[in-house]
This record gives sequence, C-alpha cells and structure tokens, in this order.
Amino acid sequence: TVHERVDTFHDNDQKPVGYGRMLRKEDPRFVRGRGRFVDDVRLPGLLHLAILRSPVAHARILSIDTSAAEASPGVKAVVTGAMLAEQGLAWMPTLSNDVQAVLATDKVRFQGQEVAFVVAEDPYAARDALELIDVEYDVLDPVVDARRALEPDAPVIRDDLEGKTDNHCFDWETGDEAATAAVFARADVVVSQDLVYPRVHPAPMETCGAVADFDAVEGKLRLWSTTQAPHAHRTLYALVAGIPEHKIQVISPDIGGGFGNKVPIYPGYVCAIVASIVTGKPVKWMEDRFENLISTGFARDYIMRGEIAATRDGRILAIRTNVLADHGAFNGTAAPVKYPAGFFGVFTGSYDIEAAYCKMTAVFTNKAPGGVAYACSFRITEAVYLVERIVDCLADELGMDPAELRLKNFIRPEQFPYTTKTGWVYDSGDYEPTMRLAMEMAGYADLRREQQEKRARGELMGIGVAFFTEAVGAGPRKNMDILGLGMADGCELRVHPTGKAVVRLSVQSQGQGHETTFAQIVAEEIGIPPDDIDVLHGDTDNTPFGLGTYGSRSTPVSGAAAALVARKVRDKARIIASGMLEVSVADLEWDKGSFRVKGDPGKSVTIQDIAMRAHGAGDLPEGVEGGLEAQICYNPSNLTYPHGAYICVVDIDPGTAQVKVRRFIAVDDCGTRINPMIIEGQVHGGLADGVGMALMEMIAFDEDGNCLGASLMDYLLPTALEVPDWETGFTVTPSPHHPIGAKGVGESATVGSPPAIVNAIVDALEPFGVRHADMPLTPSRVWDAMRGNARPP
Ligand code: CDP
Repeated sequence: TVHERVDTFHDNDQKPVGYGRMLRKEDPRFVRGRGRFVDDVRLPGLLHLAILRSPVAHARILSIDTSAAEASPGVKAVVTGAMLAEQGLAWMPTLSNDVQAVLATDKVRFQGQEVAFVVAEDPYAARDALELIDVEYDVLDPVVDARRALEPDAPVIRDDLEGKTDNHCFDWETGDEAATAAVFARADVVVSQDLVYPRVHPAPMETCGAVADFDAVEGKLRLWSTTQAPHAHRTLYALVAGIPEHKIQVISPDIGGGFGNKVPIYPGYVCAIVASIVTGKPVKWMEDRFENLISTGFARDYIMRGEIAATRDGRILAIRTNVLADHGAFNGTAAPVKYPAGFFGVFTGSYDIEAAYCKMTAVFTNKAPGGVAYACSFRITEAVYLVERIVDCLADELGMDPAELRLKNFIRPEQFPYTTKTGWVYDSGDYEPTMRLAMEMAGYADLRREQQEKRARGELMGIGVAFFTEAVGAGPRKNMDILGLGMADGCELRVHPTGKAVVRLSVQSQGQGHETTFAQIVAEEIGIPPDDIDVLHGDTDNTPFGLGTYGSRSTPVSGAAAALVARKVRDKARIIASGMLEVSVADLEWDKGSFRVKGDPGKSVTIQDIAMRAHGAGDLPEGVEGGLEAQICYNPSNLTYPHGAYICVVDIDPGTAQVKVRRFIAVDDCGTRINPMIIEGQVHGGLADGVGMALMEMIAFDEDGNCLGASLMDYLLPTALEVPDWETGFTVTPSPHHPIGAKGVGESATVGSPPAIVNAIVDALEPFGVRHADMPLTPSRVWDAMRGNARPP
C-alpha cells in the first residue's frame, strides 16, 4: 500500500527527465545473472587463500608448526604472524585509530581471529592444508561481558598496547551534566530504564573477499575487494605498504550488500595482498558465511541506562543516559575521528527539551572487533532506540497515550534550524504532519478501540509508536574525517559530442541503485535523459577521490556533488549557447534540456546541439575552452536530518508467546525524493532489518567466549514469512542547505523500526505489568516477560 501525500514536488509525467519512479538501470544485469562480483573475478594463474582462525577466545600462542601444511599437495605458501612481523606487517591500523593484528603473533583475542594463511592452487587444497597447521595455545581467561571487562581483576586483553593495564577503550561524554542534574532535581516525574541493544551482525548476502594482483614489472597492485570505501582503503594500503597511491587500484565491483559490514579493512584483504606479492600471482580470498559472522564487523552491543524527566502533564524536560559500549578485541569501527561514539549524541531525539547529558565508557572484550554502523549513521540506531523506549516508559508512567506524548513535545517547525542540547544543528523538520499522517494511515483511534475489546477478551494486541530524527551525510570536513581524510566527495561529469554523458562518483553502490538515481540527478539538472547517462563508480583509477558509501551519506554528499557538477557544465553550456544563438547569456532561459532566447521561443538550442558544438569545428565564444565537462569536490556545510513516524501493530499468542507483526505503517520524510520507487525499496529492506533485530537476531557468546551464532541456522534473519505487507507514506521537508533539498533515506527504516516493534510488544504485554523487555524478543523472552522474569541477554 502506498499512500502518497506529497508527491507533486516533481512530477515525471509533466517533465521529460529527472526525478520520479524509474526502473533501475542496473537490474537487467542482475536479473540475468550478469552481475560481476569479487568472486566472479578470474585471472590467469589465480591462486586461492584460506585463513586459519583461532578456536579459542583468549590464549597465548606458544608455537605454530606449518611443515605438514607446506608439504600438502597444491600448497604454494603458508604464512604466520611471525613471518609478517619480520616485514613489519603483522599489525595494521583500524579506521578508528586503533591497531589490529593481521595475523596473531603474541596472543589470540577473540574466537575466529586470523592466525595463519595458506595459499594453494585451488580453494579446496588451501582449506585442507589449514587442518595440518599445528598451533599450541596456552588458554587464558576470556572476558565476554562488558561489565566484567571493567572489574579490577579482569584479564588485560590489549597487553600489546604499551602501558595498558586495563580494558578501557575510551571514555566520552556530551551535554551538560550539572544543568541536566538540576532539571532532574526539580522535575515532577523521573523514569529510568535499563536497556540492552544486543550485538547483531549486518550479514550481507555476499560475504567479504578480495582478489589481489601485484604486477612486479609495473610495480602496480590491483585489488578487487568488497569495500564500501575504495578510495579510503587505497590510501590506507598506501600508508601501510609504502606503495604510492597511483600504483594501487582498488576496484569495488558489484557488491552484494554492505550495511556497514564492508567499511572496515579486514586482515583477509591484507593477507591477499601479501600473498600476491610473495607468490607473484593473483590471489583470491573469499570468506564463507561462518567466517563472516564470527570475525567481521558486528554492530551495536550497547548496555544503556536511560533516564527521562518530565512535568506531570507530560512536558519532557531532560534526558540522561549512561552507556557501556562493547567494542570487542580491537576498536574496528569506522566513525569520524572526533566522534568515537559515532552520532550517538542525537539521543535527545525529536523533542524540544531543556537539558541532556550522556556519559559513555567503551571497553575491549574477547569478542570480534566492530561496532560498525549497520544500516545506521554511526550509532544513531542505538540513540533512537534509547529515546523512543524511554519516552514510551514515560507515557506508561504518566498514563498518557504515547503518540500524544510525542506530539506534545516535538520540536516545532518554526524552531528550525534547531540546536539540540548536545550541539547538533537539525537543518529542517516538520514533525507533526508526518506523525498525523502515520496515525491517519494506521487508523490509530480505531486500533486503540480494537485493543480495548481484545484485552477484555484476554487477547494480546499491541500498538507501538516510534518517531525518529536521523543525522546523515557525514560530513562537514571542519569536524569530520576518517583517519585524517576529510569526508567530502568528488564528482566528474563529461558530456560526449553526441550529447551522451558519463558521471563518475566517489561513492560506491552496494545495491541502492546509484546507477539510476545519480543519472536522474544529473538528468534533472542538465536535461539529458537518464538512459543517456552512464554512472561509473567503485574504481579508484577511474573516479575522483571521496570517502565512500555508508551512513546514508551518498545522496546528502555525493548527490549534492552530482547536482553541482551538472550545474557547472550547464553554466558552460549557456555560454556556448549564447554564441550559437548570437545573444548575450542574460537573454537566455533554461528549459530543461535546451536554452532558448527570452521572448523568442522559436530560437533555441538543445544540450545535445551544444555538446556537439563544444567538441566540433568552428569558433567558441571568447575564452571558452572546447569540451563539455567539469569536476568538483563537495564539502557539505551540515548533515541532513531526515525524520519519520512508524506505527507497528502486533498480536502475541498467549499460549506460545509468539509475536506476529500484523501491520507496519512507515511514514518517511527524506526531503526531495529522487526516485520514490527506490526509496520504497530502501524502506522495505530497512523495516525487514528491524523485524530481525527486534525479534530474532543476536550474536551470543558462552562464558568461554565461543560464538553461538555463527551460522544462519543459529543467527536468524527475517524472511518473507515474518514480515507483513508494509504500508508506506511520505512527507517532504527539503533540506535547506542541500542543492536539491534531498536527505538520505537508506537507513531510516532500520533505525526507526526496532523501537516501534518493541514498543508494540511491551504495549501488548501491559496486562502483565511489563514495562520493558530486551531484544531480541524471541518467544522464550516474551514468555519470560509474561511471567515477570524479563532478563537481559
Ligand atoms: O548512501 P546510501 O546510498 O546507502 O543511502 P542514500 O543516500 O539514502 O540513498 C539510498 C538510495 O535512495 C539511493 O539510490 C538514493 O539516490 C535514493 N534516494 C532518493 O531517491 N531520494 C532521496 N531523497 C534519498 C535517497
């Protein structure tokens, strides 16, 4: 069901090109099985690499015997951490100012950590030889629980760091502690709640992998890899390996989903590069599902205490939170340097409040590194979950309807741009119409009546409301960089003589449809049909520098670059047109696709005519060079702040505690919409993610640090069976600082849906006096909550 409230902003029927529903240009390739993914790369003489991983979570390595593996048929090389250490390559920097072992030398620090690798003629020979490597471990006590990590007698995990005597990773705070305490002291009502956002995994359909090909004659490294940030990875490889950037080409071909999982640099990529240099042959490493789940970037793992202060009549005054963040064995996230806790600072949500304060402690544990932004702009998912759960707890305490409580406290439209109490400047927003539309689509009052009737019959029906504001489009380079690289993005546009064009992006699609939407952005600006515009991305030799795709930053940053580069080309086209029509530029007006003489519509030239003239024979106006192309680098002045209102209806079977998501209404506002069909696809996928996290996904560990969720039999992903028919709607509040008014949307639904679902479940369990239960709300957890035993994971 698609309820379109504001969809006249750009009407595809009235304008020949530009924004609107358009089938994806990339899909003919994908539906015919002609996509080209990393594992499809086959080069002459290709060798295969397999990684030996630690079976234990914490142990000292006493010895490694590789002799039997080396003698195994087809094996070309066996490499250990000690061998890498001789070349100074045993450790690599992470994207969060930490270091991570490429192959363990001294200790293993999580189950699944890389210990050695084998290169062989085929993948089977490589895997067989792993079995023959003999590693002697001296097993140490593991630290699995973040709370245990802080105890004075806890084993020190990161004794590789000089002088390290505890498991602290970092401390961080934001807001005004004293001002917040003062507001709490005078509030009528204070509610607090402990919440756990469990460790989950982005679990993209395609696992991570790379093909490295070092050409010793050219001195050039070509690396096909599953990366969301090819340019940033290339710079890091250049710094670590000492190979200059122009001698490294990172190619990120078709990517089978990223969701943040493909932002970090993994040891496997580095091993493949080393193996190619050592053997002189191209080398492929592709991890399997088990390896992906056990060792690559997980997400969340926040233990939070939320507190909210309000007046008796429901005016929210202040929010305070204390967070214990589990970063695993190495700090392997990729957040802007000045934001070690990502954008968690937006935990004040969509509400106009007087004070806020957050204190966070992050720790190392014997678990896989990560804390990546899984379909989330750097920890916004955790922030939105926190605020939207405690607002519901407050509604419960006050006996107020949760939708009414939110409506009463929203930041009002005239307050934008709005600076939050933690210093974030929300660029724009109009929350009430979005909330009202969601309530109207849901039939909110009728749902509440139905719930009363059902409760009287002993049936368990719940209605959950959540409202979110996201901060996406990292970010202004004045305060956002990753390892010193400013978060700007380049874009280059070339119009060929016949009026066809190619646009080159520094961002990289992992399935979001960039080849379509970026062609639409350029088309809207320059009047060339999207089908005549090729979008190139994911190849550092052939695209301008930029920081890549994650945190829904493509449209806010690179989308702006694409619009502005097209305007730059249009400005040049205008001068050429003035020469062709023999009038001054001031006498020309743009009519999407052509320049015409004001007052004389019969005199005009199309952009295609202009392109031919720009490349053709004959004079161009004074000072104009030939060709029709431009390049820019866009540095955003602020983030964009999309918002949305979500309402979820659940039924719970009182006999089995099974939750059924019966309805889900999602109203999103991402400003100007480029392709509504693609946006709906993004929202549908994100909502399915939310069902997974709320009901079934968790990477769990036993007390020895064994990962219990390392297959898709144990780590449950949502399927078509668990999700309802989504009911989506939209409002449009354009971003005032973005050239086309667009805000990101790729992750909104993953951010907004978990609290809506949990709020609905807690609402359904009201007859049992339940005020909170932690995700994932599996039948056994819901059953425990019904019996008064709600327990943390
Ligand atoms: O960075 P990422 O591509 O993951 O996220 P995004 O910028 O939110 O874009 C996701 C997809 O939705 C892209 O194909 C965008 O061009 C499209 N989109 C859109 O059509 N209109 C918007 N206002 C925002 C995104």
